[in-house]
Amino acid sequence: MDMEVAIEVKSLVKKYGNLTAVDGISFTVHKGEVFAFVGPNGAGKTTTVEILVCLRNLTSGEARVNGFNVQDRKGQQEIRKRIGVLPQDFNTFDLLTVKENLIYYKKMYGHGIDIDKLIELVDLKDKTNALYKNLSGGLKKRLAIATALVNDPEVVFLDEPTTGLDPRARRDMWNLVKGLKEQGTTVFLTTHYMDEAETLADTVAIINSGKIIAMGTPPRVNIKTWRNEDFDRQKGRKAIIRSASPNSFRSKAGKRRRCCRSS
Ligand SMILES: Nc1ncnc2c1ncn2[C@@H]1O[C@H](COP(=O)(O)OP(=O)(O)OP(=O)(O)O)[C@@H](O)[C@H]1O
Ligand SMILES: [Mg+2]
Repeated sequence: MDMEVAIEVKSLVKKYGNLTAVDGISFTVHKGEVFAFVGPNGAGKTTTVEILVCLRNLTSGEARVNGFNVQDRKGQQEIRKRIGVLPQDFNTFDLLTVKENLIYYKKMYGHGIDIDKLIELVDLKDKTNALYKNLSGGLKKRLAIATALVNDPEVVFLDEPTTGLDPRARRDMWNLVKGLKEQGTTVFLTTHYMDEAETLADTVAIINSGKIIAMGTPPRVNIKTWRNEDFDRQKGRKAIIRSASPNSFRSKAGKRRRCCRSS
């Protein structure tokens, strides 16, 4: 495999019983790239992340992280050493402080970055000795992000890193992601926010009902023209998708075209 490829996914399918949550997606993330998965609730974003970080088995297809196959046991061990993960539903030890939590995770990996510097990086210095259970939702999120970075990972998965953050904390998070990119870390993030994808991502993949319906640089997929309301109309059935991209979902006459199969 090309050394410059960090994540490679081919025809990936994940079924939960009768439900096809991920429906044959393929994409490549290059090393040092910020790749954003954008899509509505239930689109298949978290499922894809969970497969890539070896928390969930795939149904069919292929996925590799830094060249290691997610289905291979040895490969999974290698992947886990090299990645950081911010899960969508992060939780940690209530009765440990911010610092104690991070020390715990660093010990688990057996290596990692300086904890005090990490605490500063996520702007939690004032809360260093606060118990996790006493942090507000946004501050908990910051600790979650610190946890994802504690082992100095080559590839970081951030599943909705800014949901629940106030505008300033959101900006801080964006700067943090930009900093990661500057130091050559590959970032795979999921978001519902088009402005976030536009600001941060080198490549955006728009996913709906388990399928990638547009992919490319933010200008190429015309990220500015997508609106969450367009997805909101789907209610699990059909969606009307707006796009003026070359892969337009509009008909030649310029009318919006229905797309995305019912599930
Ligand atoms: N463990 C599971 N068992 C059964 N169905 C599941 C399971 N996990 C997810 N699903 C279903 O798979 C689909 C995709 O879910 P997923 O969590 O991947 O979506 P998402 O894009 O991350 O959504 P959100 O933006 O709400 O986080 C949804 O219909 C969801 O209900
Ligand atoms: Mg999710």
